[in-house]
Amino acid sequence: MTETVVGAACDAALVAAEAAETTAALKAARIEHTGESSALARLNAAIRDLDKNDKAAAGKLVGQARAQVNQAFAAREAEIAEVEQAAQLAAERVDVTAADSRWRPGARHPLALLQEKMADVFIGMGWEVAEGPELESEWFNFDALNFDEDHPARALQDTFFTEPTDAHLVLRTHTSPVQLRALLSRELPVYVIAPGRTFRTDELDATHTPVFHQIEGIAIDKGLSMAHLRGTLDHFVKSMFGDEAKVRLRPNYFPFTEPSAELDVWHPTFSGGAQWIEWGGCGMVNPNVLRSAGIDPEVYSGFAFGMGVERALMFRNDVKDMRDMVEGDIRFSQQYGMSL
Ligand code: DAH
Repeated sequence: MTETVVGAACDAALVAAEAAETTAALKAARIEHTGESSALARLNAAIRDLDKNDKAAAGKLVGQARAQVNQAFAAREAEIAEVEQAAQLAAERVDVTAADSRWRPGARHPLALLQEKMADVFIGMGWEVAEGPELESEWFNFDALNFDEDHPARALQDTFFTEPTDAHLVLRTHTSPVQLRALLSRELPVYVIAPGRTFRTDELDATHTPVFHQIEGIAIDKGLSMAHLRGTLDHFVKSMFGDEAKVRLRPNYFPFTEPSAELDVWHPTFSGGAQWIEWGGCGMVNPNVLRSAGIDPEVYSGFAFGMGVERALMFRNDVKDMRDMVEGDIRFSQQYGMSL
């Protein structure tokens, strides 16, 4: 065993260690130059067969060469690890200055936006917006609207009555009491739209909510007829749902209108396909209601209508579950942006 042979094996190993650029390449080089079948390992194994006198010198020679090679690999390993770690850190660098703000501006509720849009259609026709109290007197909610004391329609609306009962206050079951309030507080003619919150004793589920919204309209003038009602509603649904939208009136009963009709809307792109959807009620204001407001039904006539805002949001914007509207999850509202 000559110094040259050991030196050559050692040099080859040192060159290979230095040449390796990655952990994987270094590992391969290390196996090749220090592993069981490497030149140095074979030289080491060969010592055993040497002459007794030569063993010590050869052992020292190979031992030193192996130590030097191992050291070189360890040093190179540390260098490569450092470079690789630096590269990884650079790749995973997080620019904290680019972080999105944790403060979110929020969003207006789609029901509020939709109510505003509905009211805007009427404001565009010269109507006025009116409001009434949510805690309403039974007289405005029922009696003045021609519901008899024992009329079944009064029981049909699942009313939240309040205590003390002799105060005769209810959470309004519809926005129709605003009709009367508008008539009592304004000069004729009256063209008023009243969006607002309404209440019924329903359990919250996908299609019911005890707190909901309606939009009420009333027009009282000389010579108003069912044709005016129809034309107004036609314009309204086209503004809300698009030019292809259509209105259909089906005979129905409400104590405060005569004749009364159920109002259906049709649109080709409603979710579930082109179809008629029941949306609200309407009719010619019952002469008894006009009398409640001190208006002579021989001189004045008018029409009224009322429809659900939640329902409109459902079929207009394809909301499947009413609970999404009441849970207050900002992500629901943000889908609508700041306008509808
Ligand atoms: N108030 C009725 C309801 O909640 C809806 C309604 C029907 C309103 C006919 C009207 C109307 O103004 O004329 O079911």
